[in-house]
Amino acid sequence: MSDTITLTIDGKEITAKRGQTILQAADAAGIYIPRLCAHDDLSAHGSCRVCTVMVNGRPQAACTQSVADGMIVENESDQIRNIRRNLIDMLFVEGNHFCMFCEKSGNCELQALAYRFGITAPKYPYLYPQRELDASHPDIFIDRNRCILCGRCVRASRDVDGKTVFEFVGRGAEKRVAVNAEATLRDTKIALTDKAVDVCPVGAIIIKRVGYKVPVGQRLYDHEPIGSNIEKGAKKG
Ligand code: SF4
Ligand code: FES
Repeated sequence: MSDTITLTIDGKEITAKRGQTILQAADAAGIYIPRLCAHDDLSAHGSCRVCTVMVNGRPQAACTQSVADGMIVENESDQIRNIRRNLIDMLFVEGNHFCMFCEKSGNCELQALAYRFGITAPKYPYLYPQRELDASHPDIFIDRNRCILCGRCVRASRDVDGKTVFEFVGRGAEKRVAVNAEATLRDTKIALTDKAVDVCPVGAIIIKRVGYKVPVGQRLYDHEPIGSNIEKGAKKG
């Protein structure tokens, strides 16, 4: 059996390796599929659903669904854009994402996705949560009010750093990121070099005192929309 298969994304035929996810195959073909919980260096989580595509007419998460020979994938359609826009809108209002006050502005994947989707204000009312902050560590800060529960920090700390500093606790609306079974960051072995500190897509995990080293206007997504490096043919984005 050949290791290479053929599938179609938005009418464009691409080749992929058997075992790849749709997201990986699309990246390699220069087709950007929006994502938030997925990260190139981490196992798939499949929680945010921003990568939703239609596969043979049914919605699937591109970051967890494997490619198959002859698969027909829709990535750009009004229906899919609406699904993604709704998800992004909901993420904004479920947390306190006030970009003009956030150190992550310009480097934030949620903000960059909103720009890419032309969202200037969410269509749902803000919930203004009041969740716990943890500024106990000398160098690292977590603001759960900006957390989108993507699980990147959880996977990175467990699978890459081997420390399990972060974990999910609670269910439904009570779900949140806990630090070492309800300790504070100061009590953990977390270090600035940890992958878990580097992967937060929003301004929930912040390194102290560096937030404005690169001025707003000169940051990653101030230059080019999120995903444009993939569309330009670079492998990763
Ligand atoms: S703190 Fe950041 S990386 Fe961790 S779950 Fe929340 S948004 Fe994701
Ligand atoms: S990127 Fe696929 S579900 Fe989050």
